[in-house]
Amino acid sequence: METVTATGAIKAAEAHGAHLAPLGLADGDAVEALLDLSFGRERRQRTAYRLRDGVAAEPVASCAAFDEHGQLVGSLQSWPLALVGEDGAQTPLWLVGPIAVHPDRRSEGIGRTMLRRALAAIDETGIPAALIGDPEYYEPFGFTADATGRWELPGPFERRRLLARLDEGQTLPETGRLVPRR
Ligand SMILES: CC(C)(COP(=O)(O)OP(=O)(O)OC[C@H]1O[C@@H](n2cnc3c(N)ncnc32)[C@H](O)[C@@H]1OP(=O)(O)O)[C@@H](O)C(=O)NCCC(=O)NCCS
Repeated sequence: METVTATGAIKAAEAHGAHLAPLGLADGDAVEALLDLSFGRERRQRTAYRLRDGVAAEPVASCAAFDEHGQLVGSLQSWPLALVGEDGAQTPLWLVGPIAVHPDRRSEGIGRTMLRRALAAIDETGIPAALIGDPEYYEPFGFTADATGRWELPGPFERRRLLARLDEGQTLPETGRLVPRR
């Protein structure tokens, strides 16, 4: 059950009193601090960051979670991504992540609730989502490695963690390299 408050924030009953809100309402430094806490400061070396070079997070498909005191406890960003074939043809995708929840507030459903909201916004665009993440967490949301087995990335990655989420009947090119969609 979700209710929209006068400020536009969304209260998700499942998330134990945390409020979801547009990412733009979160302080940028607080988001970076939460990501450092969740992934370590060396996170910027990860291949996923090369897929975000020079592009901005898509506000509609990103969100923040605040606790009852207005403290940031979660963030999810999604980015414009493209799969480029050998012939230069670009297939648009959304790159979902990073998703992070403050260690004190994990396993309350905040991550799940943010992801569901972002995916609902992404579904409206008709553009499939992709991510690099643990299949054990993302499979229940429809992400699999079925379509990504021959995709290339601009850096090292674990093949089993490159996932995509397709609607029934939707297909994606079997080969190509992922790049930021500018
Ligand atoms: C992943 C993360 C965002 C989940 O947030 P959350 O609010 O705790 O998520 P939810 O409450 O919706 O779900 C929690 C469940 O997911 C499981 N889970 C968390 N991370 C997982 C992972 N990497 N792989 C598999 N399961 C995972 C938890 O064990 C928990 O299971 P439980 O409900 O049986 O206890 C949070 O754990 C986090 O910030 N982790 C560090 C950053 C990170 O690794 N993010 C990307 C993950 S690929």
